[in-house]
Amino acid sequence: MKKDKDFLSQIPDWEKDYKESSENEILFDKKDWKSASAKFTEHDLKIFGCAVMEDWETPYMEDLAKVACSNGGVVLELGFGMGISAKFIQKEKIDKHIIIEANKEVVKKAISFSEKAKHKTEVLEGFWEDVIEKIPDESLDGILFDTYPLTDKELYQNHFNFFAFAFKKLKKGGVFTYYSDEINTFGDVHIVKLKEVGFKTENIKSRLCTVNPPVDCEYWKTNTILTPIIIK
Ligand SMILES: C[S@@+](CC[C@H](N)C(=O)[O-])C[C@H]1O[C@@H](n2cnc3c(N)ncnc32)[C@H](O)[C@@H]1O
Repeated sequence: MKKDKDFLSQIPDWEKDYKESSENEILFDKKDWKSASAKFTEHDLKIFGCAVMEDWETPYMEDLAKVACSNGGVVLELGFGMGISAKFIQKEKIDKHIIIEANKEVVKKAISFSEKAKHKTEVLEGFWEDVIEKIPDESLDGILFDTYPLTDKELYQNHFNFFAFAFKKLKKGGVFTYYSDEINTFGDVHIVKLKEVGFKTENIKSRLCTVNPPVDCEYWKTNTILTPIIIK
């Protein structure tokens, strides 16, 4: 895969091997993700052997949920995973929670979660790319985006493809947050891409969340992670 300079500038130092290698990292086919077996333990979720979600992210999920629910109303969550952020969303004062999830086994968990949820909850099954248009434009008060890269082209940038849809689906004044993959500030590429789809510089804010990943965590090795707060 061709990795350009702008893209590489946002990859953290601990991913040096990735920067230097031109080999593909993702060894499964995106189309097989939906039916792949989801291996849950008390502390993590693996699909195709990949660390899709780990519970040290709990404080970060809580922070993202607080941001996404800060206007109340209808909140869209993309990527159910272990349902950690979903639980925090349900603790907030909202009218409706919509969940988009692609993996069939994870969808089952999301449906059973929705049946017991405090607030009205709807689960849309499929890749967000295929189901997002089921949601009317300018209908959402908040969005929490936390999916997982399913092709090499999406590595470290699976959120960028969603930005235009975030802008389109949010009401004016609606709030967008996402798993940023950033340690303490937005890399320039985030700002460029957010502005390209219509978000204004003065409405692109963030705060830092403190996390405590285990030393052997493969994908995060520091004690902060950036929580985006983007208002339409
Ligand atoms: C990091 S986990 C989400 C973690 C979740 N926020 C939590 O608190 O447990 C990512 C989830 O996104 C799903 N996913 C990945 N790519 C997707 C896509 N394109 N559309 C919908 N769901 C996707 C995965 O199957 C996985 O369940």
